[in-house]
Amino acid sequence: MTGTEQPHWREFITRAVAEGRLLQVTFSQPRRKDIEARKISIRPLKLKSGLHFQLERLQGNKAYHENVPENAAGERLTQLMGDYRQALFKTREADVQLLANKKGEVTMLRGNPTGKTNEPVTAHNRLKSYVLPEGEPVPFLIRLGVTTPEGRVVKAKYDKFRQINRFLEMVADVLPDLPRGRPLTVVDFGSGKSYLTFALYHMLAIREQLPVKIIGLDLKADVIAECSRLAEDLAWHNLTFSVGDIAEYEGESSVDMVVTLHACDTATDAALLKAISWNASVILSVPCCQHELFRQISQPTLKPLLKHGILKERFSALVTDALRANLLETAGYRTQMLEFIDLEHTPKNLLIRAVQGPAGENRTTVWNEYQRLRDFLGVSPYMEKELLKMNPRP
Ligand SMILES: C[S@@+](CC[C@H](N)C(=O)[O-])C[C@H]1O[C@@H](n2cnc3c(N)ncnc32)[C@H](O)[C@@H]1O
Repeated sequence: MTGTEQPHWREFITRAVAEGRLLQVTFSQPRRKDIEARKISIRPLKLKSGLHFQLERLQGNKAYHENVPENAAGERLTQLMGDYRQALFKTREADVQLLANKKGEVTMLRGNPTGKTNEPVTAHNRLKSYVLPEGEPVPFLIRLGVTTPEGRVVKAKYDKFRQINRFLEMVADVLPDLPRGRPLTVVDFGSGKSYLTFALYHMLAIREQLPVKIIGLDLKADVIAECSRLAEDLAWHNLTFSVGDIAEYEGESSVDMVVTLHACDTATDAALLKAISWNASVILSVPCCQHELFRQISQPTLKPLLKHGILKERFSALVTDALRANLLETAGYRTQMLEFIDLEHTPKNLLIRAVQGPAGENRTTVWNEYQRLRDFLGVSPYMEKELLKMNPRP
């Protein structure tokens, strides 16, 4: 660590809290004998009522917890510096150590960051970076082997843990778009081992206390049986799993949110079509293995690109998603393309987030643009054909 020209330590604390940069703080070495807690650890905690900072005081061999609202945290941390000789502030950019001498003068030392986060910080996402913080035991994560019973992330599952958190951040963003005042229905198409389905239930039913039922659907009977057992063990009665093909699913007549993550090829389109047919308020979709257009694309002008298999594959995937997004817009959704975390580090890392409501552009303009791109590339997407059967004039 090195001492450098820095803002005064009080200002540093106030700003680190206000700018959402704090990952963890530890106060140690009490200055006086009457201070009972030998150590205080603090971390941000997102609660229903907003961002808080959780103080954990170690007194003897017991830990006591207190949640301090974000707007009071700066002052509280500054006061604590009056009680302890040492504090370590882990921020996104640096580890900052505050050391108080006997006269109470505080020195700041700055070192490389060791706090765990891979999320870029912005004012927009800072409240959502801690949906499932490390170190907090959560029953479903323990049962799925993502964390230890103490809440420590299992090394081999770290990517999964990050993926779950990233997904939940995206869910948190659309909570205001879900209907309120009545029970909600959510379907996860192609739920597979269902890490994200369990995470979704945890967020909506347990954390947000929403009256929700979630159904996971997959072709694989053995995987579905295993997920059903886990939901029963957790006593999550409103989380159920069914075996079936997305395109043929008739289990629900009204669905508020459709999730489809890494369902293969046109299974994603089938899920999007189901969502449109239900007028679902929210759709979250991470497409995967877009083979359909790869086989169809034909455009001589693009020969320098299409003659390379790997480029053609990536290009086809991008075109598939662009056309899907346009079709969703013609069906009355606002769509966004977001970066998702894919475990295999392949280009399959786009999430299409669609929320019901008028898009920026008029539907006819979007439909015309769609047709121009479709015809330029000589493709005939399955999703369009099925959509036209549902609604002849998008
Ligand atoms: C790569 S896994 C993804 C699992 C999970 N959604 C995730 O992102 O972790 C894709 C899953 O989609 C299922 N799937 C593919 N096509 C399907 C279809 N037409 N109907 C139902 N499930 C399907 C597969 O069985 C598989 O379990």
